[in-house]
Amino acid sequence: MRHNLSDTTALIRDRRSISPENYSSRKVHQEIVEQVLVNATWAPTHGMTQPWRFKAFVGDGMKQIGPKLSEWYRMAAGESFSQQKFDKLVRRGEHVTALVVLGLVPDENGRIRIEDERMAVAAAAQNMYLTCTAHGIGGFWSTPKFMQLSAVKSFVGLPENGEVLGFFYMGYPEEGAWPKSHRKPLEYVTEWTTTAE
Ligand SMILES: Cc1cc2nc3c(=O)[nH]c(=O)nc-3n(C[C@H](O)[C@H](O)[C@H](O)COP(=O)(O)O)c2cc1C
Repeated sequence: MRHNLSDTTALIRDRRSISPENYSSRKVHQEIVEQVLVNATWAPTHGMTQPWRFKAFVGDGMKQIGPKLSEWYRMAAGESFSQQKFDKLVRRGEHVTALVVLGLVPDENGRIRIEDERMAVAAAAQNMYLTCTAHGIGGFWSTPKFMQLSAVKSFVGLPENGEVLGFFYMGYPEEGAWPKSHRKPLEYVTEWTTTAE
């Protein structure tokens, strides 16, 4: 065994999505976000294209993106606009101390399918989640409709052929707010083949 399996399993199973509404006022510092992002870059990447691009907003940097969240929501919501959701995003933008916009820039010579580039970024997000968990930080990967606005893409400086794949919030949960979860037993999601016929 190269690593302690019970620690690894415990980390994977303890990983949770914890929404910003459950974060305390404790700040997430830049050094931690940096560790989270370095680990993100160790995700698998087809053809070593390393398509992930991170736009990290920390501390006072949040003042730039925080107020945009509700604004973008309003731009994208159209008929389905909800004042409650808008207000929630206003509060979220004021409360959160670290947010990474998950971006993608595809391989420039098109060697790798876009689906594979997206999967690589998703794997990077899982590394972010796990590193957050090790720190006792709650991560939250959110993929609102408004992430597809071209205003968002240009705000974070992604090129025309780039994509925004979500917003990854980070925060220390309030005491006792680390949720439990469950998964379907393996037999629901697995078919085994163990013989030759
Ligand atoms: C690609 C992706 C996008 C997600 N987007 C959202 C989202 O927009 N809003 C949300 O509440 N949760 C979002 N989640 C988090 C899921 O709700 C969460 O993973 C699920 O409830 C299982 O909980 P757990 O992550 O704590 O195990 C997303 C998860 C993934 C993998």
